[in-house]
Amino acid sequence: NLSTLQDAFGRTHTNLRVSVTDRCNLRCFYCMPAENVQFLPRPELLTFEEISRFVELMVRRCGINKVRLTGGEPLVRQSIHELVQQLVNIPGLNDLALTTNGILLPDQAINLYNAGLRRLNISLDTLDRERFQEMTRRDSLDKVLAGIQVAREMGFGPLKLNAVAMRGISEADLVPLAELSRETGIEVRFIEYMPLDAERLWEREKVLYMDKMIEILSREIAPLLPVDIDQSSKPAVSYEFADGRGRIGFISSVTHPFCSRCNRFRLTADGKIRNCLFSLEETDIRGLLRSGVSEEEVIAAVSGSIADKKEGHEINTARFLQPKRPMYSIGG
Ligand code: GTP
Ligand code: 5AD
Ligand code: SF4
Repeated sequence: NLSTLQDAFGRTHTNLRVSVTDRCNLRCFYCMPAENVQFLPRPELLTFEEISRFVELMVRRCGINKVRLTGGEPLVRQSIHELVQQLVNIPGLNDLALTTNGILLPDQAINLYNAGLRRLNISLDTLDRERFQEMTRRDSLDKVLAGIQVAREMGFGPLKLNAVAMRGISEADLVPLAELSRETGIEVRFIEYMPLDAERLWEREKVLYMDKMIEILSREIAPLLPVDIDQSSKPAVSYEFADGRGRIGFISSVTHPFCSRCNRFRLTADGKIRNCLFSLEETDIRGLLRSGVSEEEVIAAVSGSIADKKEGHEINTARFLQPKRPMYSIGG
């Protein structure tokens, strides 16, 4: 008796993003405040057992087949490979992946690989040491590069790099990151800056639009052509250079929202269901898990949240309200 997670717009939800912590070892300004971050107290975090129990239920009863672990920075929970181990053993969970800033990969890549993880997306906005420090407020570029190297050597794949792109800042990073993709075969994905920063400094003028990025890359390297692949529920649209070297993705949530194809929802580190990155309401699951209610009651709470999902975000309207939680607290 499968109860698939349908919303009012005919979208079936099969992709769950699980944040395991709101802590992070960087302070990217498009995400976190510079200092005095109020992190969740430990008892408010879901335990790995609670996360596994919930994910197992979602896979067995609700048709979830894809799970991504996020944060904050998921690797700051040092025993994260133990959670991976529990999740890879869930029958029907076909795709388990993790999004990291890479800093702790030299320490943890082996454990993650041995636990059964294969798919990693690594966040890296620039190859320039000074700009890295300006954007993340930490001098950790070398550590991230070492993390990427370790992940490649271990055989994680396909690796993807995520770069948030901001107007007036990231233009100079487009070519170096694209060249990295051309040299290594790693897909680089440029992400339009979204209004999810802790300091609420987002403005439309600060977004580097996908069309502008394509124009710059086409002019500086070689024409970028759309790749004809199944994009059904992927946030990124893929392009390739006309000379066949290098694949570039664009996650253009501001100028080309993928809401109508969205099949994803989120579990925050403190156990709330969010049916959209931008939703203003949440559904508590932690309380249900901790009070020992029946599986049916947990499923009803999740189905209810999905049923209430809005048609899409309203960034491009005057009605837009930025959610209370910034990205690090929602989960990337
Ligand atoms: P795969 O396609 O499985 O590789 O994963 P993914 O691209 O969904 O995951 P990843 O964590 O790499 O996401 C990259 C970026 O996409 C995130 O950092 C966000 O900026 C953006 N993103 C992820 N989910 C959503 C979403 O639900 N809505 C919007 N608007 N953007 C999202
Ligand atoms: N806009 C777009 N992407 C963001 N991320 C964090 N904050 C933002 C934002 N304001 C992305 C990072 C990373 C993931 C954890 O979330 O690039 O890939
Ligand atoms: Fe940390 Fe990711 Fe936020 Fe940067 S974007 S501060 S790496 S959670």
